[in-house]
Amino acid sequence: MTTRQADQWGVNVDSLPDFWVDAEKLSIIQDFMFSGINVMLTGDPGTGKTELTKRLAQAHQLPFHRVNVGAIRTPRDWFGHWEFIGGQTVFIQSEFVAAIQRPGIVALDEFNRVTPDIHNSIYTILDHNREVYIEETKQHISVHPRCIFIATENRGRSHTGTFMEDTAVSDRFETIQLELPPVEIMAHLLEKVYGAETEQALLLARITHKLNTLYHEESLSRPTGFRPAISATALLKRGQALNTALKYTFVNRFSPEGGVDSEQTTVLQVIQAYLK
Ligand SMILES: Nc1ncnc2c1ncn2[C@@H]1O[C@H](COP(=O)(O)OP(=O)(O)O)[C@@H](O)[C@H]1O
Ligand SMILES: [Mg+2]
Repeated sequence: MTTRQADQWGVNVDSLPDFWVDAEKLSIIQDFMFSGINVMLTGDPGTGKTELTKRLAQAHQLPFHRVNVGAIRTPRDWFGHWEFIGGQTVFIQSEFVAAIQRPGIVALDEFNRVTPDIHNSIYTILDHNREVYIEETKQHISVHPRCIFIATENRGRSHTGTFMEDTAVSDRFETIQLELPPVEIMAHLLEKVYGAETEQALLLARITHKLNTLYHEESLSRPTGFRPAISATALLKRGQALNTALKYTFVNRFSPEGGVDSEQTTVLQVIQAYLK
């Protein structure tokens, strides 16, 4: 990784070490970031959305703060919480409030895991105003000019636990959709980063792509991202047999219901075809 000085703010990198992202998308994401435009990363689970937010911070040597948006229960949780200390209730300001007042990347991870009313209280932070009034501490907070917001959200028909965000929020972000790395690149990463053997890495990447294609063709009910291949690699490295490793990673994620017509049967057929 190249070392960057603070005065190199806004200089794009053209790749990230050990992480694949389409070159054009990477440059557009950085152009948005350094223009003060909020970015929304979408894509199937396991396409590297969360990881990319972190890698961008590393590549640009920026402080990084991740908000697990799914854990926010009330609209005021963004800003802090009340605690009973020494006989009185005091407001403990959140790390988020500190993070937005300094340069860095603030990742709003899994933004669509909550209902839109949870988003309401940060609208003014995310639009051109870039400020917010915190009632609890009676403070006006201005977002630092070099504070960058990158949100992520899982999209897809299997995401029943998520909510379509309202236009008020989608108007505040430019959306970039991430995809799985191409088969050869995914295989290379499994080998280099996770220590898979060459042939097995290629097999795992092929199975991943095939199963994810079947999801998009609506033959399977859930997408297949990077994670099962990483887990299978771990089992193989621990000495498990190939069939066993595949069973506990790729296969068991799918329902056995329906016997020969089940999703598990479909997955097993895919695997058999690639093992030949
Ligand atoms: N394009 C990619 N290049 C390298 N590793 C990846 C890529 N996409 C995903 N991974 C790896 O897969 C795992 C899951 O990625 P994650 O960022 O959590 O996915 P998402 O947030 O999209 O569900 C991580 O360990 C990540 O490093
Ligand atoms: Mg994620």
